[in-house]
Amino acid sequence: SLADPVLVAIDGPAGSGKSSVSRAAAARLGFGILDTGAAYRALAWAALQTGADLDDEASMLALLDAWHYSITLLGAQRVEVELGGAPARHDVTAAIREHAVSGQVSRVSKHPEVRERLNAMFRRIVAESGLPGVVIEGRDITTVVAPNAPVRILMTASPEVRAQRRAGELAGMSQEQVLADIAARDAKDAQVVDFMHPAPGVRLVDTSDLDFEQSVEAVVGIVREVSTR
Ligand code: DC
Repeated sequence: SLADPVLVAIDGPAGSGKSSVSRAAAARLGFGILDTGAAYRALAWAALQTGADLDDEASMLALLDAWHYSITLLGAQRVEVELGGAPARHDVTAAIREHAVSGQVSRVSKHPEVRERLNAMFRRIVAESGLPGVVIEGRDITTVVAPNAPVRILMTASPEVRAQRRAGELAGMSQEQVLADIAARDAKDAQVVDFMHPAPGVRLVDTSDLDFEQSVEAVVGIVREVSTR
């Protein structure tokens, strides 16, 4: 049997640089990258598609019973969903980034049993990856999904810096609107998991004063430091 992949757990809020930095660090290390937010987004997409009630946990669990989810860990991300009773594959890579999904996803990620089911799925995806290592990023990876990972990092940035980075993506919104949007989603998500303060043993990487390359180097540096110890 294959050795378990080396796990690099990274948590943080939107706009911290977590997604793009994790991806680049994984590529540099020759590791896979598992974006766990994509699964919450894909479940919200499936719920919206089928007309299920996102606030009803039992409906979300029924959807999980019937779906098949797949995500690529190497190269460009591709996310696919098969829904029960309709054995067609839907490529949702682009759809899960749209506002229709982003604005609703907190409604599905708030359910404890949904989280447990997805966490089990994440651990299975990593274990079956066959890769030397996997960077896994989200909100509760360092604390719940992989609390024993050899590398655990919380990536943060000041609210102002995060709003600035997001503004580039959200054309037509003022800085104040973007800041308010980020604060609202953080507040909702933070009711479920604390991704703003590092748990014991978790390394803090504050990217407020780092550019992209410096942020990637910070992560790669920590992984190398830990794996040569
Ligand atoms: O990182 P993201 O914006 O793609 O995450 C989408 C949503 O999923 C976000 O509102 C928080 C939630 N999420 C979560 O609750 N736990 C995770 N491990 C990852 C994402």
